[in-house]
Amino acid sequence: MAHVNVFDTTLRDGEQSPGVNLNKLEKLEIAKQLEKLGVDIMEAGFPASSQNEFESVQEIARTVKNSSVTGLARAKKSDIDTAWEALKDASEPRLHVFLATSPIHMTHKLKKTPDEVIETAVEMVRYARERFPQVEWSAEDACRSDRDFLVRIIEQVIDAGATVINLPDTVGYTTPYEYGELFRYVKENVPNIEKVSLSAHCHDDLGMAVANSLAAIENGATQIEGTINGIGERAGNASIEEVAVALQIRNNFYEHSTNLVLNEIKRTSDLVSKFTGMAVPGNKAIVGKNAFAHESGIHQDGMMKNASTYEIITPEMVGIGASNMVLGKHSGRHAFEDKVKSLGYDLSDEKLKEAFKAFKSLTDRKKDVTDEDLFTILTDVQTDS
Ligand code: KIV
Ligand code: ZN
Repeated sequence: MAHVNVFDTTLRDGEQSPGVNLNKLEKLEIAKQLEKLGVDIMEAGFPASSQNEFESVQEIARTVKNSSVTGLARAKKSDIDTAWEALKDASEPRLHVFLATSPIHMTHKLKKTPDEVIETAVEMVRYARERFPQVEWSAEDACRSDRDFLVRIIEQVIDAGATVINLPDTVGYTTPYEYGELFRYVKENVPNIEKVSLSAHCHDDLGMAVANSLAAIENGATQIEGTINGIGERAGNASIEEVAVALQIRNNFYEHSTNLVLNEIKRTSDLVSKFTGMAVPGNKAIVGKNAFAHESGIHQDGMMKNASTYEIITPEMVGIGASNMVLGKHSGRHAFEDKVKSLGYDLSDEKLKEAFKAFKSLTDRKKDVTDEDLFTILTDVQTDS
């Protein structure tokens, strides 16, 4: 089984989620949990963006030993110098430097010609490699860039010393087929591509970030970038827990695995949600509160006979205690009876029938039937003569 590196950017791109601002302690706690989760690389932040950010990245670089720690820099010597000061004590200092390559960005944002962009990228990668043993270069907005221009610039930044080439779908514009093709094209046309690791970095504007990341893996990506809970700029980044679990569950298809300790996923998700203040939607894959919950009578009955009828992932695999049978208006008698027993009641058939009827009538008026509601119903039927 081939290996794919997981590059977590929860503390950099994830922190770019509107309204999120992590303090030093919170960043350090998340970094320690990401290390436990087994991410290969964590992007701790953007050291040149503020003094606090610099200190957070420095503290993380000095503390985390089992994951490689990186920081972001624009293609500017001063950003690279600041990043070096923040990262030099890391066990494997790594820099992530980026420059836009799409006509839209080069014309309107950078106001540079394509040749000037190549010159700057090459100069900055060469400069970074004077200190950093590992330098990732990102072609920002790669998916809206000209492919032959990408081939040209990638070849030259590799010659300048880049060790990882990242092709970000910065604005979440691409589709799985197109993104896969881009990786194939770069692999087939950049002559020195075998010297580097190829990375995928997807945003979720069209809801395709995870599918695009998986397509990249199918077409030669050896690293995927993303965040916990899929947080990030605008609609967010690819959710790394979703990519990793998809690789695990569908390994017959993808034939790639990661180093993630999958049963640390839930704990990591909870911590990120708590410190960022970003609630995880109930229906979010893998970590949402409903991901292992079953409400309909038909599903509950199947689950009670054999969990594989309606679950393709075990909750234990991702660090969640157990599946949850939710009692609601679609639930059947079988699940209700089970719940009654678990609450310590042993009712006659007749009382059980009465309680089930009262429960069903309550579900017409109330969405969430709690244990307290059930206690009230059960006490009522028990005391009924
Ligand atoms: O989405 C993006 O292009 C980025 C770059 C900084 C790599 O986050
Ligand atoms: Zn990004």
